[in-house]
Amino acid sequence: MSPASDCLSELSDISPAYTFRTPQATDGNVVFELVSRCQPLDENSLYCNLLQCSHFSDTSIVAEAKGQMVGFISGYRLPQQPNTLFVWQVAVDASQRGKGLASQMLENLVKRVADVTYLHTTITPDNKASWNTFKRFALNLKAPLSHNVLFDKHQHFAGKHDSEELVVIGPFTRL
Ligand SMILES: CC(C)(COP(=O)(O)OP(=O)(O)OC[C@H]1O[C@@H](n2cnc3c(N)ncnc32)[C@H](O)[C@@H]1OP(=O)(O)O)[C@@H](O)C(=O)NCCC(=O)NCCS
Repeated sequence: MSPASDCLSELSDISPAYTFRTPQATDGNVVFELVSRCQPLDENSLYCNLLQCSHFSDTSIVAEAKGQMVGFISGYRLPQQPNTLFVWQVAVDASQRGKGLASQMLENLVKRVADVTYLHTTITPDNKASWNTFKRFALNLKAPLSHNVLFDKHQHFAGKHDSEELVVIGPFTRL
């Protein structure tokens, strides 16, 4: 076992309270409602969430506690770099925050998606919880993390949205 997968195995043992599974199309509406409750996430259309839960289900994950969805990550492989998992959104119900759920979802997802050696995501500069979540993930995998503005507030968002920084984590060991 590699040092990275050693670290991930230890993390898995911290809390057995959650179950993790691949999304299915019938989850779309519950995902839509969870994301709506998780500011500052952008709401997508319900149709978009249905596509995430069907076309992109292999690269997305649902977390449940007592049969209720309490966490969701949407992601996809970059079309030109299939070894890179792009994490689109991470949503954890407010009742479950600060318990390591986002970290566990990321860990489970990366374990499941074959042949991924890089993770990309975007984060707004002021989203401390999100920065710390991805910094923790990189630390656990002993992988480098770098970041640079990808979509600029003025150049790309016409002032309507904060800049989004591209965060690049990797390479990391295949799990
Ligand atoms: C960001 C979010 C997904 C984190 O979920 P979570 O399950 O609470 O995160 P975890 O408990 O796994 O914590 C991961 C790391 O982030 C840190 N962290 C979590 N919430 C934090 C907060 N509000 N402020 C600062 N650090 C925070 C934790 O301490 C942990 O770091 P550590 O292991 O070094 O101590 C959750 O707060 C959320 O859904 N926020 C609203 C939506 C959002 O902003 N999503 C991210 C953008 S895609």
